[in-house]
Amino acid sequence: MAQKPKVYITRKLPQKALDMINREYNFEINPQNRPLTRSELEEAIQGRDGMITMLSDNIDEDLLKLNPELKVIANYAVGYDNIDIEACNEFNVLVSNTPEVLTETTADFTWALLMTAAMRIAEADKFVRKKKYEGWSPMPSLSRGSLGQKTLGIIGFGRIGKAVAKRARGFGMKILYHEPSRLPEEEEIEHGASYRKFEDLLKESDFVTLHLPLLESTRHLIGEQELKTMKETAYLINTARGAIIDEKALKRALEKEEIAGAALDVFEEEPALTPGLSELENVILTPHIASASRETRTQMAVIAAENLIAGLKGEKMPNLVNPSAKS
Ligand code: GLV
Ligand code: GLV
Repeated sequence: MAQKPKVYITRKLPQKALDMINREYNFEINPQNRPLTRSELEEAIQGRDGMITMLSDNIDEDLLKLNPELKVIANYAVGYDNIDIEACNEFNVLVSNTPEVLTETTADFTWALLMTAAMRIAEADKFVRKKKYEGWSPMPSLSRGSLGQKTLGIIGFGRIGKAVAKRARGFGMKILYHEPSRLPEEEEIEHGASYRKFEDLLKESDFVTLHLPLLESTRHLIGEQELKTMKETAYLINTARGAIIDEKALKRALEKEEIAGAALDVFEEEPALTPGLSELENVILTPHIASASRETRTQMAVIAAENLIAGLKGEKMPNLVNPSAKS
């Protein structure tokens, strides 16, 4: 009998997905509760037919060269900027992601960050803990904005961007979006959103939220100039990828109060932060958890397992991202 295909999983996943894989294949899993180091990853890839990888695993050409037999990489994330897709095409490695199941959870979390920033909840919490609360006041020092009069600018109007727009409609916000290509008018009406050129969106928005993939063309999309273009009273929210923002430039803009604040779930060099960022009062920091509800993370694992299994059986992978690779 032919040998069972060999699979490696770079982080422990919900059991439901491991059971699915276990029925079909021999698999090994990173035993540590941390990402693999580069040399561990180099060892892990060898002799495998398929892998489930995390967004913290850098899958590049040099790594793929170590195993010309690798057929499938199922990435446990919607974003796959950690994988060199061109190199995968060249080595005929099929790659999948986990879209859709995390859309609503990520939009919920984005909304929570927006509300936390707008209502200054993190600062208010610290204020009380530091025993600064000396009784109710008609003019509190922690003043808040109301969302109903405000404009939300959504950069990247895919599934997640649209799900954020749905929430903003409930709050009566004016909604702007920017995408490389404008939507048909009926869709704009459906989403209650108006198209703006990039710079105009930055100028007009009270909240700017990012929902686009990290690509060479979107790296540092928000830098010094763009932060200066935003209103002094505006907030920037990022649940997409850290490197879409020039984090050093953002830190400087926050220090100089060129914008009112930021709420960041992702960082340029995760898990490291630009030195000094965490000392600022006008930034909210969370550890890349926008999709981290238990249900969503289980669904993501199941989808990764389904894609892996389909790919290794030579069937159509439901969430293949590089159809130009030959299986
Ligand atoms: C998380 O950041 C993802 O891309 O799924
Ligand atoms: C991801 O699911 C997106 O299209 O926004």
